[in-house]
Amino acid sequence: MIKFLEGKLIYLRAIEREDANENYLKWLNEPQITAGLASGTFPSTLTALKSYVEQKSTDKNTVMLAICDQKTNKHIGNIKLDNFDWVSSTCELGVLIGDTSFWGKGIGYEVCKLTIDYAFSQLNIRKILLAVYANNMAAIKVYQKLGFNNEGTLKDQIWQNGAYIDKHFMGLFNPLKGK
Ligand SMILES: CC(C)(COP(=O)(O)OP(=O)(O)OC[C@H]1O[C@@H](n2cnc3c(N)ncnc32)[C@H](O)[C@@H]1OP(=O)(O)O)[C@@H](O)C(=O)NCCC(=O)NCCS
Repeated sequence: MIKFLEGKLIYLRAIEREDANENYLKWLNEPQITAGLASGTFPSTLTALKSYVEQKSTDKNTVMLAICDQKTNKHIGNIKLDNFDWVSSTCELGVLIGDTSFWGKGIGYEVCKLTIDYAFSQLNIRKILLAVYANNMAAIKVYQKLGFNNEGTLKDQIWQNGAYIDKHFMGLFNPLKGK
């Protein structure tokens, strides 16, 4: 196993076929975890997960990394950069910490910071975009702390638990490239 990016609490490594297992599947069927994600509305299966990981790990337009605990090497979540536009020099960020016992310890911030620094310095990305549901306060807090600004809101875009909620688009410019 090769550590691709390394932080204090976690490290990131390439996602592998073997990571599409029951541990990962559990995250996708857990309402507390999927509340902020497009997944969860329909049941996730191991077969679909295996083909998703296979596709993402070989797709040249995606960088998908497994988040692993430094102390135990446990696979606790994933982070990905995808939808690269190499002309406009942009991409999108998505993060999921599936093991809730690792929430609220600063890992969300650390993992996004490592990935953003990699995108800006190594991939020469000019701007990173992400989408977040307006009720996902932990995620919004992390993104704001990283410097993301709200660039637009789709009103009542998402149906969740009996109500429509807004969806924000947030952007972060590469300070090395100016705006
Ligand atoms: C969103 C997510 C990545 C955050 O990870 P995390 O490791 O818990 O985040 P951190 O510990 O770095 O920071 C969370 C911050 O939100 C705050 N927070 C947590 N829950 C909150 C709530 N309900 N309301 C307000 N703030 C909250 C914490 O206090 C912390 O702020 P602080 O650094 O000022 O103390 C994680 O919860 C997750 O993976 N959730 C499921 C998938 C998901 O929603 N992904 C994002 C899709 S856009």
